[in-house]
Amino acid sequence: MSFTIVEQVTPRLNRSELAVPASNEKLFEKAATSAADVIFLDLEDAVAPDEKEQARKNAVAAIRDIDWGDKTLSVRINGLDTHYMYRDVIDLIEQAGDRLDLIMIPKVGTASDIYAVDMLVTQAEQAMGRTKKLGFELIIETALGMANVNEIAAASPRIESLHFGVADYAASTRARTTVIGGPNPLYGVLTDKDGDAPRDYHWGDMWHYAIARMVVAARANGLRPVDGPFGDFSDPDGFKAQANRAAVLGCEGKWAIHPSQIALANEVFSPSDAEVEKAKRILEAMEQATREGKGAVSLDGRLIDIASIKQAENLVEKAERIGSA
Ligand code: GLV
Ligand code: MG
Repeated sequence: MSFTIVEQVTPRLNRSELAVPASNEKLFEKAATSAADVIFLDLEDAVAPDEKEQARKNAVAAIRDIDWGDKTLSVRINGLDTHYMYRDVIDLIEQAGDRLDLIMIPKVGTASDIYAVDMLVTQAEQAMGRTKKLGFELIIETALGMANVNEIAAASPRIESLHFGVADYAASTRARTTVIGGPNPLYGVLTDKDGDAPRDYHWGDMWHYAIARMVVAARANGLRPVDGPFGDFSDPDGFKAQANRAAVLGCEGKWAIHPSQIALANEVFSPSDAEVEKAKRILEAMEQATREGKGAVSLDGRLIDIASIKQAENLVEKAERIGSA
């Protein structure tokens, strides 16, 4: 282990994160009683410029008046390049009370962006005597943000999670796509020529590098990596495939841009009974090994060692938080 200890952020379930445009008040009550782990009220890209002021008022009122149960509640503020952003932060802190847990900062480009928002939030919190400190969720969705992702991830103790915003990332990198998330059939490999035998074409995941890079930056700083939106809400299989590959790479969860995606995300990002059972058996086997002074043993014909303990502990801990262990 390194001499540098990575502190883990406040543990929270973040399997599903429901996006709710703050301009559409009709959606709030349903969101509050949904099964989403985290909800963010959106003041940014789902809200047209003419509706920004009203959306902000709606968000403030909703945070105060609606019973959000034990959900983690967040608001996506506008970007630092707009004049809406400072007022978003100030009104939320001065008027919305203490229920708000996080603010989500879009299109983060440099660590200084976080420094600037941190300064504003810190001053407003102090002025209000707010004792519950707001956490930050950051969207990595530009070429600049991805190029600086390591510095960004370490920019403030308020940061809890990094999110991959595939739509803006595609626009920023000029990737060839016009949809939100999902593969592009042009991104693939053709197997080598083998005489006259038919050749196979394998689709690849054009977002693999970006997500893997963000996951590493997040985990190296004790943060939760979360995969962003999948736009085609009439394609549950497509959503699950995207969610599964993000889960396999280490993401904690995925956005739901439609209520139908919440259950899918919760399912994919919850360890299965079989996985929990296996993890518990690994922990038992390793306890036995430790008692016998061994560092590694075999279980079901496979090697397990001290690294397996941490993996199994992570899994059991998550299942306990979900209430399924
Ligand atoms: C999310 O904000 C995205 O751009 O995908
Ligand atoms: Mg975006």
